[in-house]
Amino acid sequence: MPRPVVDAVVGHLRAEERFGGYEAEKRAAETLAAFYTEFAGLLNVSPDEIAYVENATRAWDMAFYGLRLGPGDRVITHAPAEYVSNYLGLRQQAARLGFEVDLAPSDADGLVDVSALEAMITPQTRAILLTHATTAGGMVNPAVEVGQVARRHALIYMLDACQSVGQMQIDVQAIGCDVLSGTGRKYLRGPRGTGFLYVRRDRMDEIEPAFVDLKSAALDGTTGIRLTPDARRYEAWESNVAGRIGLVAAVRYARAIGLDRIEARVQALAETLRAELARLPGVTVHDRGRVKSGLVTFRIEGETPAETMARMAGQGINIWISSMLTAPMDFGPRGIDSLSRASVHYYNTEDEIGRLIEALPRR
Ligand SMILES: Cc1ncc(COP(=O)(O)O)c(C=O)c1O
Repeated sequence: MPRPVVDAVVGHLRAEERFGGYEAEKRAAETLAAFYTEFAGLLNVSPDEIAYVENATRAWDMAFYGLRLGPGDRVITHAPAEYVSNYLGLRQQAARLGFEVDLAPSDADGLVDVSALEAMITPQTRAILLTHATTAGGMVNPAVEVGQVARRHALIYMLDACQSVGQMQIDVQAIGCDVLSGTGRKYLRGPRGTGFLYVRRDRMDEIEPAFVDLKSAALDGTTGIRLTPDARRYEAWESNVAGRIGLVAAVRYARAIGLDRIEARVQALAETLRAELARLPGVTVHDRGRVKSGLVTFRIEGETPAETMARMAGQGINIWISSMLTAPMDFGPRGIDSLSRASVHYYNTEDEIGRLIEALPRR
């Protein structure tokens, strides 16, 4: 996390220590209101279409579990890219509610095949669910092209942008999605346990919040409920206020740098890393897609990704492992059990990429 983000979180915790939670929150009213305007600016939407949710998974759930789906309905998803928690929820709801799930095929680059997806649409199709940038590697799905299809057929289009917000420019109007979910803790460099949800104003009445409480609804008489008119209907009464304030600081920080500059830098560093890895004998780069994110996946011959991670950790280099646990629908069909995953951000340097390359075994 950047220093201003940490300072914002710690500053609020100090205010809670001094004044108590409610009073500290009241004093932070202006910053908390900026949550909506900052995200509106970041995503090119209106502030009343933004909700704070405690993480990206629950943000997605608040909208997905609110879709009115039943027997006979169909939804389309691209399983290899799907975040596994979203896919688990999809299967749970399909079994509970009796709707059908259609799996759009991949094209030669591993991306959702947009023409094939469009050809799958039937009069019973209600929604398209897509993950933009994948968890397990550098693939970035063509969100804009899928949005054009969704609009042509007036379908609800939900986009999980958890890995892409903060590392690339995201314009909801250009993408045309009705729902977009994301997290604070990844490329936005915000605190853990924070997230956000966008829901298009004219879809809100079709996408009821999965749960309600006294933030999202009020009693209408003694038996009815009235939902909060804007996207705050997807929020919970209680939240981590210091985390919300930290996330505001993180969005401000990213916007001050400029998402165009961040995107260019992440892309350049990731391409350098991929090119350097690909030159080494015995190293295979596994990222698919035409546009790629800052997540770089590779495998070293004769070494497991766990061994590669331990080798790197010994030299102060943090990398991670993508495995069947997080990418079963992607790795299973490709016959991959696990890969090494190195993520770059704009603050990484060419020297650090050089150190990672140096740390690899020479064959
Ligand atoms: C594509 C995608 N969606 C959602 C999530 C979940 O984010 P969170 O941990 O904030 O719930 C992740 C986390 O890795 C992700 O990669």
